Amino acid sequence: MARVLTGIQSSGRPHLGNILGAIVPAIELIKENKEESFIFIADFHSLTSSKDGQLRKENTTAVAAAWLAFGLDIEKTVFYRQSRRPEVAELTWYLSCFTPFPMLANAHSFKDKSEKLSDVNAGLFTYPILMSADILLYSADLVPVGKDQLQHLEMCRDIAAAFNHQAGEEILKLPEPRIDEVVKTIPGTDGQKMSKSYNNFIDIFLPEKALKKNINTIITDSTPLEEPKDPDACNVFKLYSLIASKEQIEQMRKNYLGGNYGYGHAKKEFLELILEKYKEERKVFDFYMSNPNEVEKKLEAGEKKAKITGMPLLQKIREQLGFA
Ligand code: TRP
Repeated sequence: MARVLTGIQSSGRPHLGNILGAIVPAIELIKENKEESFIFIADFHSLTSSKDGQLRKENTTAVAAAWLAFGLDIEKTVFYRQSRRPEVAELTWYLSCFTPFPMLANAHSFKDKSEKLSDVNAGLFTYPILMSADILLYSADLVPVGKDQLQHLEMCRDIAAAFNHQAGEEILKLPEPRIDEVVKTIPGTDGQKMSKSYNNFIDIFLPEKALKKNINTIITDSTPLEEPKDPDACNVFKLYSLIASKEQIEQMRKNYLGGNYGYGHAKKEFLELILEKYKEERKVFDFYMSNPNEVEKKLEAGEKKAKITGMPLLQKIREQLGFA
């Protein structure tokens, strides 16, 4: 039996990439698993990029609402906000003193971000230590992450091993990453990886009109309507294929190859499919967004449970280091 743990930053409303790449596979994994899982909203992490408190609150509710809309079983899951368990901040300090500076300096993700962003703060640099604390505080066995987070998992294992070595016992559990192989990188409206930071995402929870506009931003080439088109070179087809049935995909492929079928038609079908396939999820999401107190109650219950698991380990670490 393995304890599954994962988190999503509250740096925006969850988009199709988050949903297909993280939320849905994690929910499936939790279903198969007998042990209690830990799902949290990494709101502390979101401070590395966004400083707007009001916006963070809204995004935190939106991320929670998306998990609930897709059917996260909160009876079997400890569902919480990272920031509401401040133990994690204390553990981050301890772990940072076991983290070699060059290891952080070599992180791809940091190098990448520091080249692209104007705000290169120390939080961005120590991000992997906070992430390690998230995982180690709850002794997680299995951490579903995207490929871009694999190096952070390696660091987490190294930091845990360094701590255990000094303690002379296995106080911290070394986690295993879990990469969902089925879900390859999900393309955004411009064909790059779908990401908040590239502003190329599809927000399936938008009201119909706004969603239509959102889908219309998908970039296509200028092949005339009458001519046959290459489905495999088209972002609309790729996105449609991620959520459509086999039959639907085959039909659209035929339409592309047959000619007299425009990208506008494909976009319309993509819109209709989202509206139909995610009808229930969109309703539940709207319900939680207009009733944030309902989300609050669920998270608070999870935060109580999280404390029961995290506190004893933190106390052990304090004792080990001479702070208790
Ligand atoms: N860094 C992760 C991401 O951006 C989010 C995250 C924070 C996380 N802490 C975590 C994921 C702990 C797994 C475990 O995708």
